[in-house]
Amino acid sequence: MIITVTLNPAMDKTMVIDGIELGEVNRADSVRNDIGGKGINVSKVLRSLGTDTLATGFLGGNIEDQFRKELKNMGILDQFISIQGNTRTNIKLVDRKNETNTDINDPGPVISSEELETFISFYDETVEKGDIVVLAGGLPPNIPQNLYGRLTRMAKEKEALVVIDAEGESLHHALLELPYMIKPNEKELADYLGKEALTEEEIIHSAQYLVEKGIRKVLVSRGEKGSIFITELSTLKGKGLEVQVKSTVGAGDSMVAALVFAENEKLSDFETLALAQATGAAAVATEGTKACTREEVEKHLAAAREKIEEVKK
Ligand SMILES: Nc1ncnc2c1ncn2[C@@H]1O[C@H](COP(=O)(O)OP(=O)(O)OP(=O)(O)O)[C@@H](O)[C@H]1O
Ligand SMILES: [Mg+2]
Repeated sequence: MIITVTLNPAMDKTMVIDGIELGEVNRADSVRNDIGGKGINVSKVLRSLGTDTLATGFLGGNIEDQFRKELKNMGILDQFISIQGNTRTNIKLVDRKNETNTDINDPGPVISSEELETFISFYDETVEKGDIVVLAGGLPPNIPQNLYGRLTRMAKEKEALVVIDAEGESLHHALLELPYMIKPNEKELADYLGKEALTEEEIIHSAQYLVEKGIRKVLVSRGEKGSIFITELSTLKGKGLEVQVKSTVGAGDSMVAALVFAENEKLSDFETLALAQATGAAAVATEGTKACTREEVEKHLAAAREKIEEVKK
């Protein structure tokens, strides 16, 4: 099974306003609510690609029922742990007139130690050999930053593959346990290395170093510049695809879904990168927080293949 973990999910409330005025009462032209959080976004795109997925983490409060209904509608197996606290609502203000996107994120609920233990027992009972476990996104405020490290270790002991999409201290702890695959963006990789920014050569060298240490596959995403995929077998560079950008929200998460899909289907490194790049492009060509469709991904596959070149060591 493919298991995605979203410990701090959110209802994304997107409001479109024509010219926001700060300090005034503004009226939204349209409002939409989408269930989100990085792991859930990965599950949504996996469903688009036609793969079954189980989603877990914490859910609670007055939006819990709506959240669970949406998961069911999307065909995502809902195994979220119920909590006392309130699952967050994150506000996205899209201002058409000023062409700005403003996000206001709630930190999220406090998780009690009993709730955390319930989750860990569930995880321990559920993860089994051959599973792919995706640990993605930030943690609720009171959860120890080493949790992804612990969850990585537990899954590895069961011979499941772990994919990490995290940043900061949480990423640091997870990498110490050598997950199977990671997808940092350029900035997250630079932060991890304690640098301001990285040249292409530095990206390649640092990712190759991580692979030598035992992380089997590293995909570094670089926004419009594309991405670089490093494994034990090869270093492949995918140049950015030309697409009409509608929204870059969740492009990275969609790429993670493509990586997991490719792993499940045992695709070659070349085909894995092509699919990841096509899925990233499909995500940016899709409005707002909606998951891209399989048709949209397929539209970009041929161009994605053409944009890949091997980097010689
Ligand atoms: N402006 C763009 N034009 C074309 N492709 C893009 C653009 N932005 C992102 N992509 C595609 O999506 C991929 C992932 O984007 P990015 O590197 O921004 O991920 P991220 O920072 O992890 O995003 P997220 O907000 O989902 O965490 C890129 O590697 C690229 O393939
Ligand atoms: Mg990301």
